[in-house]
Amino acid sequence: MLTAHATLDPAFRIAPVDRRLFGSFVEHMGRCVYGGIYEPGHPESDPDGNRLDVLELTRELGISVIRYPGGNFVSGYRWEDGVGPVSERPRRLDQAWRSIETNEFGLNEFMTWTKLARVEPMMAVNLGTRGLQEACDLLEYANHPGGTYFSDLRRKHGVEQPHDIRLWCLGNEMDGPWQTGHKSAEEYGRLAAETGKAMRQVDPSIELVACGSSNALMPTFGSWESTVLDHTFDYVDYISLHAYYEQHGEDRASFLGAAVGMDRFIDGVVATADHVAAKKKSRKKLNLSFDEWNLWQESRFAGHTNLDWEQAPRLIEDTYTVQDAVVFGSLLMSLLRHADRVAIACLAQLVNVIGPIRAEPDRPAWAQTIYFPFALTARHAVGEVLRVETTTGVYDTAEHGDVPLVDVVATHDPDSGQVTVFAMNRAIDGPARLEIDLRAFGDLVVAEHVHLGGAQDLDAVNSAEAPRAIAPVGVEGTTTEGRKLAAALPAVSWNMIRLVPAGR
Ligand code: AHR
Repeated sequence: MLTAHATLDPAFRIAPVDRRLFGSFVEHMGRCVYGGIYEPGHPESDPDGNRLDVLELTRELGISVIRYPGGNFVSGYRWEDGVGPVSERPRRLDQAWRSIETNEFGLNEFMTWTKLARVEPMMAVNLGTRGLQEACDLLEYANHPGGTYFSDLRRKHGVEQPHDIRLWCLGNEMDGPWQTGHKSAEEYGRLAAETGKAMRQVDPSIELVACGSSNALMPTFGSWESTVLDHTFDYVDYISLHAYYEQHGEDRASFLGAAVGMDRFIDGVVATADHVAAKKKSRKKLNLSFDEWNLWQESRFAGHTNLDWEQAPRLIEDTYTVQDAVVFGSLLMSLLRHADRVAIACLAQLVNVIGPIRAEPDRPAWAQTIYFPFALTARHAVGEVLRVETTTGVYDTAEHGDVPLVDVVATHDPDSGQVTVFAMNRAIDGPARLEIDLRAFGDLVVAEHVHLGGAQDLDAVNSAEAPRAIAPVGVEGTTTEGRKLAAALPAVSWNMIRLVPAGR
């Protein structure tokens, strides 16, 4: 049987687990807002139209941050349309998704929702069709206490206290030719630097994210980050990354290795940020905001130019399989492994639009397969991420070259003593044995070992008709005798093994 070995030691730490790694994203796109988080009249909705079943699933998922309101949508958005009396708000064409935007839901509704969901807001400003002044106006409306035009407008709209939004994205995917108001790296870098500087004058407490590349395959990847950071390095706190993964044709081997692609993407951005720091003779370690990541069968999407002008149409409502959940779990492992530089991550998106949560008008919301690795990781990846060197075989893939058959990430909570091991077995032909040396810890016992994949049908899904068909399943026989973890990882599986101090 394939065997993988590793050693864990609490002294070998990568970084603390930042809760902001467990963010998500709500865009005015398809049925993410309308028919997703907000659906007045639905039996599950509160009097303001917030869907309580979606809120409940969001809280259980362990979401920490929500990025809003886009996405491509933000690059044509006038934030003023979404505040004030709802009856006076204009209906607009949303060019990004060729949809009708009613503006029934806007900034203040979103902020009410974040409180119910117990999440931190992350706001994006429009640097596509708008610029510095409108970004500062929005910040003044949101964060200034009062006594000025926009802060008093907020108070007039019934929101006395400032929202105090800390995280701000300077535009969205400005490197993409599909973006409304797409810019060159020079144009965007200058605009982002000046906008960031001005926004900080309005509110020095904010944290700013500059747009990095829309994905690692962009022809400008690398040079985009370098040029943008030449301009913005001193004014921003983070550079963004976006990535969506899918299986191309029959190439399952590459798909199972998607986390290797994610690792490389992150390493490339870290190298570029550090290169700019070196040029500037700066000791600043610029952190990364992976503010859109997920699986998306993007090659099946006909493209926004082929859509009709509809209100809240069904867009990219991908249904996720068990195999997707396994790969998805490994992407979370990649994010954890880079916890020293990836400070924020947002699963795109939260509901309906490539979401872990699905909602329909005539029934309660349900969890897709990818919901479970996220919820388990958000709950149990606590404390510090440990450095793990895994000895395992590799296999060759078309997309990533050599990919390890077994991947392992671990966290250690110094307060409770809990060690959580996340492990993926990519082998399709059988289980792998995982052995981990735990000598550096006291006596640990297995609290639980759960997995997705293995004997489950890899194509199985949760659906409206069978909302609980798939859930994590326990694995028997995992032991810690002689301070050595021994576990069997089923074929094609994502696993979480929780170890707790003996006797507690
Ligand atoms: O999440 C869907 C879209 O993907 C977002 O609007 C955009 O930023 C990205 O290309």
